Amino acid sequence: MSKVKDPNLAEEGKARIDWAENNMPVLVGIRKDFEKRKPLAGITISACLHVTKETGVLVRTLLAGGAKVNLCGSNPLSTQDDVAAALAAEGANVFAWRGVNNEEYYWCVNQVLDARPNITMDDGGDLVTTILTKRPECLENIIAGTEETTTGMIRFRAMEKEGMLKYPIIAVNDAYTKYLFDNRYGTGQSTIDGILRATSVLLAGKNFVIGGYGWCSRGIAMRAKGMGANVIVTEVNPLRALEAVMDGFQVMSMDKAAEIGDVFVTATGNKDIIRKEHFEKMKSGAILANSGHFNVEINIPELESLSSGKMVVRNNVEEFTLKNGKKIYLLAEGRLVNLAAAEGHPSEIMDMSFANQTLLAEYLVKHAKNLEPKVYKVPDEIDKKVARLKLHAINVQIDTLTPEQEKYISGWEEGT
Ligand SMILES: NC(=O)c1ccc[n+]([C@@H]2O[C@H](COP(=O)([O-])OP(=O)(O)OC[C@H]3O[C@@H](n4cnc5c(N)ncnc54)[C@H](O)[C@@H]3O)[C@@H](O)[C@H]2O)c1
Repeated sequence: MSKVKDPNLAEEGKARIDWAENNMPVLVGIRKDFEKRKPLAGITISACLHVTKETGVLVRTLLAGGAKVNLCGSNPLSTQDDVAAALAAEGANVFAWRGVNNEEYYWCVNQVLDARPNITMDDGGDLVTTILTKRPECLENIIAGTEETTTGMIRFRAMEKEGMLKYPIIAVNDAYTKYLFDNRYGTGQSTIDGILRATSVLLAGKNFVIGGYGWCSRGIAMRAKGMGANVIVTEVNPLRALEAVMDGFQVMSMDKAAEIGDVFVTATGNKDIIRKEHFEKMKSGAILANSGHFNVEINIPELESLSSGKMVVRNNVEEFTLKNGKKIYLLAEGRLVNLAAAEGHPSEIMDMSFANQTLLAEYLVKHAKNLEPKVYKVPDEIDKKVARLKLHAINVQIDTLTPEQEKYISGWEEGT
């Protein structure tokens, strides 16, 4: 049973997922293996993920492994309706459509929990938070879960500290084969993609302000620089700020950046990065976007309170007219611009993130009984396996240590 926007979009969605598969050789390889071995037979998985074509390939892989898959979206604007329809037709239970309101969002979350999952796959932590606060009966069946993004990890680590976490969660986000590529190159490219699809503005010569210099923001900064923008970074962490300076970017307070910025993007996992005092200082025509997980990085209620009116002027572009006459443009309602205004990360990137998810599902079936209700790192052998499979898929050979080298780097005897 599923609820999607329009089941007739299934053919279109299938073509879109097939297209993603062309660039996801690792996941397709795992699927072929899963088809033979069925390591997830008898396992029910409930996933709260962005319903994109790449998630489509993940779901196909989990189904091939023998799992029952239940899927809801992890953001109101990130569901690709054709993909949702295709996955429903291919045997998953899908409860997702683009533009859900808050009540509908949690209705969908509750539907996937009604399936009484053994494994949860979260992106941002809403699934697990709902279980712990409203659906504790689900705990009976759950053996473990995984979490895809930084914001979810922040929430789960806080839960662990307060003794709230009730089952083991593996931090997919913190695998090298995830954050070094997904957060950096994935968010880097797709955020620029989202801004350009929404606005089609020229980036060359623009003052491009980025809130934060974490993994996502580094990627955005790198790509914006490549497009010829003058990149300005704001930070609260002195080490990250220094790194941005040495990477060649201007670093200043948001107060100062607000006065000169043309395009603003936040990706911090924190709230109120751009707020009232900043909107007041902005130039007319400033463009605001967010790539952090939740729509709280730009304080939209404060923007509304400063405005005399707002209207949608293009797909994913809202024009706010401030009481002082200036105009400010907000993209994708302040939600992840790369998913809401573009298609999210390129498939080549999600190939690695979701290879981790599938291999971890099998790992958890075997090992969850030995884990405690804590946050765990992705086992090193899985992280390295994903990297090896990816290198193999893109036909890159690397060296191996000679026995002398192994001895040298594991000993202390040899010196000057
Ligand atoms: N758009 C996507 O597809 C996508 C992909 C991956 C992660 N994310 C999300 O992006 C966000 C950032 O993730 P990350 O992995 O880059 O995190 P990170 O922890 O590597 O970086 C966050 C940075 O923001 C800085 N920061 C915090 N508060 C700030 C403030 N008030 N002003 C300026 N800087 C501030 C921190 O010091 C840190 O350097 C999270 O919400 C994450 O879930 C989005």
